[in-house]
Amino acid sequence: MQVVLDYLKKNQSRFVAELCDYLRFASVSAQPQHKKDLCACAEWLVNHCRKIGLDAKICPTAGHPIVVAKTKKCNGGRGGTPHFMIYGHYDVQPPEPLDLWKSPPFEPRIVGRSIFARGSTDNKGQNFAHLKAVEAYLKTGTPLPCDLTFVIEGEEEVGSENLSVFLKKNRAELKCDAVVVSDTGMPSPKHPALTYALRGIIAFEIKLHGPSRDLHSGVFGGAVENPAMALSQLLTKLRDTNGKISIPHFYDDVKPLSKLEREQSAKFPLKDSELQKLLGSPKLFGERGFTPMEQRSARPTFEVNGLTSGYQGEGNKTIVPAWASAKITCRLVPNQNPARIRKLVCDYLKKICPPTVRLEIEAGHGAEAYLVSPTSAQAKAALRALEKSFSCKPILMREGGSIPIVNEFKKILGADSLLLGLGLPDDNAHSPNEKFNLDCFAKGQLMSAHLWQELSRV
Ligand code: BES
Ligand code: MN
Repeated sequence: MQVVLDYLKKNQSRFVAELCDYLRFASVSAQPQHKKDLCACAEWLVNHCRKIGLDAKICPTAGHPIVVAKTKKCNGGRGGTPHFMIYGHYDVQPPEPLDLWKSPPFEPRIVGRSIFARGSTDNKGQNFAHLKAVEAYLKTGTPLPCDLTFVIEGEEEVGSENLSVFLKKNRAELKCDAVVVSDTGMPSPKHPALTYALRGIIAFEIKLHGPSRDLHSGVFGGAVENPAMALSQLLTKLRDTNGKISIPHFYDDVKPLSKLEREQSAKFPLKDSELQKLLGSPKLFGERGFTPMEQRSARPTFEVNGLTSGYQGEGNKTIVPAWASAKITCRLVPNQNPARIRKLVCDYLKKICPPTVRLEIEAGHGAEAYLVSPTSAQAKAALRALEKSFSCKPILMREGGSIPIVNEFKKILGADSLLLGLGLPDDNAHSPNEKFNLDCFAKGQLMSAHLWQELSRV
């Protein structure tokens, strides 16, 4: 084992250079013009996996390809060896708005112990840490105590629909004892974390159609509905000023937080004042009766992601816009059913939409929340690996983001996911100037190296 750790230590600068290569691909899954960049990134990744000694292949899908890479079977494939999957994604969020980046999003830049690039923390840097740990085993000839399969997909940021199909088709091959996912966060490098809950999500777009074209607001304004105004008024009926969602029955299935959970979340090391500073918002705001930590991890939300209507160019244009649209996501908590919530939202919108506009609702992706025992033998093994690598006591936490596929891992493969995130609160995931901390990168490799030992003993 020591040779593995020494190998990791010795090769850090090469690892960082390789991570830069990985980050140069503009693998933006949401934007069709980047389809080629996703393929090129998958191609690079599969070659890299082969170079470090894995059996790797590209698996085409109806969307972006999936990279699958395996270690050679222990025990000559006769079984009895534990099998773990490492899941990650090579697709990234759109980098826009570009003018807010201090350096171009796909030209990695190192400043101090941070590497800046779109996808650095979410999720290329995190999955690359696991690849480097496995490389250390393979290149030093150290036997792994388990079989490992990497599944690195290109559609996480758009809902992972094709990976779900892929899991069903390859159920036997992918059957495993647990899935390890580093695609979440930790409050600080002194507080490594095991995340035991994620929120679910539903995405949709509301469009209100008014006049058949943009109209002269002087000639016709006043006698016709303004769709932007109608949309604003509609939105205010969906969430009140106390942060409570006003859609009837929205909270019906939400379980109250236990005393233990509230105590645990109160101990979270990031103070509210620090959070407010980090976010740069004039004042924190959230559902009354809950702490910011609870609001952003254990309570459902209704969030406007984008609002579009009318003239957005320079100067003025005196029109009544023909339409207005809002892109929305609701975060869901355990026990809320995405299909049921979607129906509640649609029914309510139809009920309250005024007759002066035509309502169109376009459904997007959806996923349930995730909750797993933080006290299982596997969870305890993961905590030991975190403590050994970060030399600090790890914490347990719930997080507010979503990783839709973890539910499918449970349903299709019967495997729990161990969420061992390497991201920091100031990593700017999904924001301009995304970064990844190089200490988290190095310690993440150590964590992965220890993890296979600890998990295989369970
Ligand atoms: N890595 C995130 C999810 C995440 C972030 C979980 C922080 C916990 C803490 C992932 O890449 C992501 O952004 N997922 C999307 C999923 C959506 C597009 C279906 C999300 O949460 O918005
Ligand atoms: Mn993401």
